[in-house]
Amino acid sequence: MHIVTKQITLLCLLFSCASAAISGQVAASHSLTVDAAESVAPIQPTMYGIFFEDINFAADGGLYAEMIKNRGFEFTLPKTGWLEPNSDRHSMNENSGMSDIVKVKDDPANQNYLRVTVKNPEGYHLLNEGFRGMGVREGDTYDLSFKAGTGKGDLSAVTFQLLTTDDEVIGETTVSLAGDGWQDYEATLEATATDPAARLRLTFDAPGTANLDMISLFPRDTWKGRNKGLRKDLVQLLYDLEPGFLRFPGGCIVEGRTLARRYQWKKTVGSIEERELLVNRWNTEFDHRLTPDYYQSFGLGFFEYFQLAEDLGAEPMPILSCGIACQFNTGELVPMEELDPYVQDALDLIEFANADTTTAWGKVRADMGHPEPFNMKYIGIGNEQWGPEYIERYKVFDEAIKAAYPDIVIISGSGPFPDGEYFDYGWEQLREMNAEIVDEHYYRSPEWFRENATRYDDYNREGPKVFAGEYAAQSVAIASPENKNNWNCALSEAAYMTGLERNADIVVMTSYAPLMAHADAWQWTPDMIWFDNLESYGTANYYVQKLYANHAGTDLHRVTEAGKPVTGQDGLYASVVSDAGRGEVYVKVANTSDAPRQLDITIKGKSLAAEGTAYTMSGTDMDAVNSFDEPMKVSPVESEVTLRKGKLTATLPAKAFAVYKLQVAK
Ligand code: AHR
Repeated sequence: MHIVTKQITLLCLLFSCASAAISGQVAASHSLTVDAAESVAPIQPTMYGIFFEDINFAADGGLYAEMIKNRGFEFTLPKTGWLEPNSDRHSMNENSGMSDIVKVKDDPANQNYLRVTVKNPEGYHLLNEGFRGMGVREGDTYDLSFKAGTGKGDLSAVTFQLLTTDDEVIGETTVSLAGDGWQDYEATLEATATDPAARLRLTFDAPGTANLDMISLFPRDTWKGRNKGLRKDLVQLLYDLEPGFLRFPGGCIVEGRTLARRYQWKKTVGSIEERELLVNRWNTEFDHRLTPDYYQSFGLGFFEYFQLAEDLGAEPMPILSCGIACQFNTGELVPMEELDPYVQDALDLIEFANADTTTAWGKVRADMGHPEPFNMKYIGIGNEQWGPEYIERYKVFDEAIKAAYPDIVIISGSGPFPDGEYFDYGWEQLREMNAEIVDEHYYRSPEWFRENATRYDDYNREGPKVFAGEYAAQSVAIASPENKNNWNCALSEAAYMTGLERNADIVVMTSYAPLMAHADAWQWTPDMIWFDNLESYGTANYYVQKLYANHAGTDLHRVTEAGKPVTGQDGLYASVVSDAGRGEVYVKVANTSDAPRQLDITIKGKSLAAEGTAYTMSGTDMDAVNSFDEPMKVSPVESEVTLRKGKLTATLPAKAFAVYKLQVAK
């Protein structure tokens, strides 16, 4: 008992306790003044959003709840994910059986099916390994569907079994096949035990042949209970962020390593079976994190992204290829005279999202179950492109989109780096063209984030606004596999974000990147949310983002110390907003120093209630991370604060970030 108490006290000391009791040191005093009477700028509802990219198994194997890998046998190696432990390609397999891939017709979306030849039903079985296994939970129902037709012999039934890692059966169903010719089948399996790495086994009742395709298994319990839908726990984490926008589908996957492998939204809508699968560009990008079994089934396609944005109450923000493949890879260019189909894709996407159901693409949307428009307002052209090749292509898109849809806001990009010649050239050109919003990316060290909180203070206020579209502090180096989502990175981001907020007149959208990673199948770290086949958790960075987004506010106010903005002096960073609708003021303060800080915050121009709430993240172990075992180790702790005569007095611990929520008096 004593040991337990001691451990809790220690944890409390290390990570979460927000009061002065932890200090033991004398806290240096800081007097901040907030001018809550004047709104310096509106905070755009899009200020804090999310950037989804299908990297790290974030879509297939992640958000998209399909449990079968390569359900349609369409991967480049068509049996990827499927195993026949008792079959030998160099034998007649008289004691088991064998399957073959049959290539049928010239339909790019559906080139293959599997023909199983069973010689001895006792000996033959087929297994699907899932996405590093399948997450199965005791008591849950799983919906199975497949296409099949029988051929020679007596084979007339398939048994599907969920197997644990120890080959124990934890769910089973048998389906009788109606006979020759393709038929659709559905069945359910009830799980009798939990296993994070289960597999699906198929066995057959008699010798003979059967053709199989689109073998699919989903948990019934998906987000909003949608059939073949999204993983509930992962969407919930996104929902809890209250994001202002959802940018999709990437990232570099928009561009593709080659133009042929770029993301083409039209191939991701309509019937699931007709969605042409594509190799994921991240599968062999990093030699140290090879995932050759990483493909895009597009079960999570553009319709589903729009629907997700709607569910989250976020503005949908699709990004499209501008006719340049990833410049870190091949940089292939579509010739200017062949750019039309790319531009048409953008125009048709706007029609798909917004036009009425009498239009060709509006009808596709309606046929998919959403006759109402999605009211898309933003479109991104190009991801991390750079140089004159980008600008000349971007101009063509810009003219065509504005001519047809003058109200659509176009997001352009300034390349992969936050400074340097690509960045300067891009900005100069885009400013000259009166671009509306320019996307900036920065993957930099935690120090960079702490030192650049004033980045936007001197930005030119005339011309384009800024979308801080991809950023994350890298604890080791850009995309190093050793990077961690540690408290040092999260606190540095929190400090930096006061600078984003202080400049909300020009910075109108921001998003951390990447969003999600499968713990057993990732390519890039750090990532905001980690998951395996059953569990998920938000990182320290997630909770920083959540504190900002949940307290985004509607109006920016000045906060100063000795007449100057609080941008890192003595390790302190601050920004203040109020929310007109909620009648609340949010004071955000980061303390990156090694000692606590005594804060006296005078709020002028608004009469405030005496009681407020503090949400504090703190801890002097800068390497601390959340994990499956300790998902909330670095997360906000709620406490009460008291105001006297409009002055908030609080002690902010060393290495801490706090949001003080204050009520405007009625
Ligand atoms: O977020 C990971 C990658 O980083 C994105 O795909 C790309 O835009 C950037 O280089």
